[in-house]
Amino acid sequence: MPQLKDTYPLYLNNKAVLPNTDLEVTDKFTGEVAFRTALATPDIIDEGIAGAVRAAEPMARMASYERQAVLQHCVDRFKERFDELAYALCVEAGKPIKDSEGEVTRLIDTFRIAAEESVRMYGEAMPLDISPRAKGYQAIWKRYPIGPCSFISPFNFPLNLAAHKIAPAIAVGCSFVMKPASKTPLGAIIMGEVLAETNLPEGAFSILPASRDGADLFTEDERLKLLSFTGSPGVGWDLKAKSGKKKVVLELGGNAAVIIDHDADLDDALERVIFGAFYQSGQSCIGVQRIIIHESVYDRFRDMLVAKTKTLVAGDPKDRNTFIGPMISEGEAKRLKGWIDEAVEGGAKLLCGGAREGNMLEATLLEHVDRDAKALNEEAFGPLAILQKFSHFDEALEEVNHSKFGLQAGIFTRDLFKMFDAWDRLEVGGVVINDVPSYRVDNMPYGGVKDSGLGREGIKFAMEDMTEIRNLVIRRT
Ligand code: SIN
Repeated sequence: MPQLKDTYPLYLNNKAVLPNTDLEVTDKFTGEVAFRTALATPDIIDEGIAGAVRAAEPMARMASYERQAVLQHCVDRFKERFDELAYALCVEAGKPIKDSEGEVTRLIDTFRIAAEESVRMYGEAMPLDISPRAKGYQAIWKRYPIGPCSFISPFNFPLNLAAHKIAPAIAVGCSFVMKPASKTPLGAIIMGEVLAETNLPEGAFSILPASRDGADLFTEDERLKLLSFTGSPGVGWDLKAKSGKKKVVLELGGNAAVIIDHDADLDDALERVIFGAFYQSGQSCIGVQRIIIHESVYDRFRDMLVAKTKTLVAGDPKDRNTFIGPMISEGEAKRLKGWIDEAVEGGAKLLCGGAREGNMLEATLLEHVDRDAKALNEEAFGPLAILQKFSHFDEALEEVNHSKFGLQAGIFTRDLFKMFDAWDRLEVGGVVINDVPSYRVDNMPYGGVKDSGLGREGIKFAMEDMTEIRNLVIRRT
């Protein structure tokens, strides 16, 4: 089994430094301190931002094959360090080892996609002679890196969601400062270690674990041109309000829904819904929270779900048989347990689960949940799913839209017309047919509408956000 070190540095202007060991990071299953790392002070964050400003021009001048080589180096090194990365995730996030390995695989994909896209940043030549006043004029536009970027990444995918910011930044030639989640900083720190092996210009990157107050420095500093934040909706919208003139990309949460129509293959849907609701203990922005089932198959599918949920193995994430590991903290588990209890007091029926010990919360299914219950309306971000019944497909679509969020939605249907109808009418960033909303491949556009965010990730789309169009107008006389 790979070993973690006792202490890890932060990365300031491409270099490892260890000014203190103030951040204790626990093993989320045992609760013991797993390692310590440095916590960036305001002075250190300021130095990192100054470095990113200095590096902006040399980064923008790098040739695309040079940026590609940096990204390819990361791909190669992540492959070599696969087991270590997966183990680090398993310890610091409490993510079951199989899910951790899945995330490392995605990390490698994300950097590979960025390496491919880094040499495909094209512009366009366009005629402007649309009327007599523009006769003889044409334009050529290209994309130009936006400048130093600020990234704040969350605890639930410490590697891959950090990668969705770092890899496109390198692909387009933007320098950056990153604040990884304080509960899970190691994934990003190891990425810093790998990036430090490359010849990126000095100041190109800083990986700076910081306190919550530190997040303000990543948000408010006018030298930074783009803020890309992934995390909770409350924090995200609050940071946007403080972000001044920056471009802002927010990947926030949701209470994602899946529709199970009358013609769904229920055995297949069962496997996927169980995965979507409970993988990594439901701590995903696109985890299934609402299961909207056609009345003709409701009872049967409910019984299948309950029976399967009861078989899920909970326990030590390092054990390969474990499916349900700990939540990120006892506080989070208590919060969600509170919502479950409140829903039950309000008339909901507890179908299974509901018990908590420390930060372990059982996989829980509820039905007959009151419309106003937090468990239904807020982002659960834990192992809870709620069953709802519908009679007509229109009703199911309305139910999906009955949410302040709109990230992704899933629909199990064999009806093409319903598919197109749903695609047109659902207020979400993505519709997934015959799978759960939790499905994501790292090159697809990913992001939300309504309270779920702004902008899109998925390498090519993030690259667009991290660049600005610079136009050249030519007059032929
Ligand atoms: C998220 O939780 O926002 C990301 C989900 C994923 O990348 O699968």
